[in-house]
Amino acid sequence: MTAIVETKNLTRYYGEHLALNHLNLQIPAGAVYGFIGPNGAGKTTTMRILTTLLRPSGGEAWVAGLSVTHQRAEVRRAVGFMPDSFGFYNNMTAAEYLDFFAAAYHVPPARRPALIDDLLALVDLGHKRDSDVMSLSRGMKQRLSLARTLIHDPQLLILDEPASGLDPRARVELRELLRELRRLGKTIMISSHILTELAEMCTHIGIIERGTLLASGDVATIMRSLRPHRTFVAHVISDVQAAAEVATAAEHVLAVRVLNDDGPPRIEVDIDGDDHAVSALLTRLVSHQVEIVHFAAQTSNLEEIFLKVTEGVVG
Ligand SMILES: Nc1ncnc2c1ncn2[C@@H]1O[C@H](COP(=O)(O)OP(=O)(O)OP(=O)(O)O)[C@@H](O)[C@H]1O
Ligand SMILES: [Mg+2]
Repeated sequence: MTAIVETKNLTRYYGEHLALNHLNLQIPAGAVYGFIGPNGAGKTTTMRILTTLLRPSGGEAWVAGLSVTHQRAEVRRAVGFMPDSFGFYNNMTAAEYLDFFAAAYHVPPARRPALIDDLLALVDLGHKRDSDVMSLSRGMKQRLSLARTLIHDPQLLILDEPASGLDPRARVELRELLRELRRLGKTIMISSHILTELAEMCTHIGIIERGTLLASGDVATIMRSLRPHRTFVAHVISDVQAAAEVATAAEHVLAVRVLNDDGPPRIEVDIDGDDHAVSALLTRLVSHQVEIVHFAAQTSNLEEIFLKVTEGVVG
C-alpha cells in the first residue's frame, strides 16, 4: 500500500511550547487510522497541519504526495476535514449549509442540488433538509459536518473526535457511516482519546503523547510487538489451583495466574510457543482431569495497548 499521509520530522511550536516533536507518521491508502492520545497530546495540531490550517515550525508533511507547505490548494482538494467543534451558523438550513461549502469548493451550481440531496441521504438527514442547523441535535450536527467534509469528494477524510458527545446509538451509526465511506474508497484518519471507540473500526493506529509518536502501524503488528507471548484463558469447573499447577509444569509456559474475581473460575496462561505448544497445553490439562468448559486466546484491546505503550511516560 502506498502512503496517503506521510510526515517527516514534523514539528510545531506554540511560542516556547513544543506541541509536536519530530513526528514521523505514515498512513497507507485505504486505511482507517486511529490517532489516539490523551488531552494535549498534539492530535488536533497534527490534523490542522495536514489540512493546511496550520503551518509546521519544522519538518514536512505530504497528503497524496502533495506538500502541505508548498501545494496548499492541491492538498485542500484532496482532504476533507471535520473539526472538533461545529462552529456557529446564523439562519442557515442544513441544505444551505452544504450549499455554502459546495460553493466554497467551486462545485458548479447546476450540480449542487443533487449532490446535497445525496449527501443528506448518506448521513440520514434528508428529513432535516430545511431545518435551521443550529436547531439540530449534537449527533445530527456531527453527521452534517461529516457530509460537509465529503462535498468535494476528497480521497482522505480527517475527522477530529467525531464521536465525542454522541450517545451509544449515534456512535454505532457513525461507525456504520465510516464503514460505508471506507467501502467508497476513502482513507480515514480519526482521533479520539476513548480507545474502545476506535477498537472495532481501525485497521491501523498511532499513539501520540506530548507531541511524540509512541507507536504506529497496523493493529496486529502493534499488538504483537507489545505482547511477544500469547495469553490463553481456560474456564475451569474442577479445582482451579490444581489446574494452575498442571499448566505451570507444561512446556513453553511462562506464567500462570488464577483469577478469582466475580467472573467464572479460570486460569490465564502466558505461553511463548507456537500453536503446537498451545494444543499440547490443552491436551495436558485435559489428560490431568482438569475440567475445562472454555479455552481461548485472550484478545487485548486498544485500551490495554494504550496503557502499555504510555506506561512510565505519563508521570
Ligand atoms: N493555539 C494554541 N496556542 C498555544 N498552545 C496551543 C494552541 N493549540 C494547542 N496548543 C497546545 O499544544 C498542545 C497540543 O494541543 P492539541 O490541541 O494538538 O492536543 P490534542 O491532542 O488535540 O488534545 P485534545 O484531546 O484535548 O483535543 C497542548 O499542550 C496545547 O495546550
Ligand atoms: Mg484535539
